[in-house]
Amino acid sequence: MAGDVSQSNFVYNAPCVIDANLSEEFPAWKGVVMPKILAFSGSARKGSYNQQLVAIAAAGAQKAGAEVTVINLKDYPLPLFDQDLERQDGLPDNARKLKKLMLDHDGLMIASPEYNSSITPLLKNTIDWCSRAESEDEPPLAAYKGKAAVIMSASPGGLGGLRGLVHLRAILGNIGIIVLPSQRAVSGAAQAFDDQAQLKDAKQQQAIEGLGEQLADVLTRLRN
Ligand SMILES: Cc1cc2nc3c(=O)[nH]c(=O)nc-3n(C[C@H](O)[C@H](O)[C@H](O)COP(=O)(O)O)c2cc1C
Repeated sequence: MAGDVSQSNFVYNAPCVIDANLSEEFPAWKGVVMPKILAFSGSARKGSYNQQLVAIAAAGAQKAGAEVTVINLKDYPLPLFDQDLERQDGLPDNARKLKKLMLDHDGLMIASPEYNSSITPLLKNTIDWCSRAESEDEPPLAAYKGKAAVIMSASPGGLGGLRGLVHLRAILGNIGIIVLPSQRAVSGAAQAFDDQAQLKDAKQQQAIEGLGEQLADVLTRLRN
């Protein structure tokens, strides 16, 4: 988990522990360390359905007690990964920032569009930059190993981006992330959201919030 700094010199923020006031109301939770989750989508498009989707899952995780940071990758522009560029200049500032964010969180929540049946170049580029070590003593894949994640997708099409999730699951698993079995693909995304960026279908809304709850629950159990 993010708390394991034994093999690296990375610092991470203090975990959120249930405080005295809350533990009076819920005595069984006293001293329970709540997980931190980083949520983002694989789209930088204005009005992205996937960014809306991940925010719904984030709300579900928050309801379950997790501390969730929702970011938009548009705020962290990166050049296309190039090993010569990396050799010359090292990691770009935004890659360092994103890596630090990942290290500071226990879990990841990712919604990705499907581009030509796979994950978006934005998401793959982010994964690739953040997979790189910044020093010789940094263990491989430090930002990813031992984390848990949930994945989801939305698309105006009939499959909801499901084929992209197959690739995303494989990639995340191969870099050391435990991807929870539950996932969701929202089809017909152009009609699926209301003006408040919530899903019109109550069952679907509940299912996406449920993904967030599941991740929060698994991470809480792993941490305590
Ligand atoms: C290059 C490209 C390829 C795409 N390929 C697929 C595809 O294979 N399957 C699909 O369902 N939608 C595909 N789409 C449509 C996206 O699902 C749609 O643009 C969606 O709104 C992107 O997600 P976003 O709203 O989060 O940006 C593609 C879009 C682009 C730009």
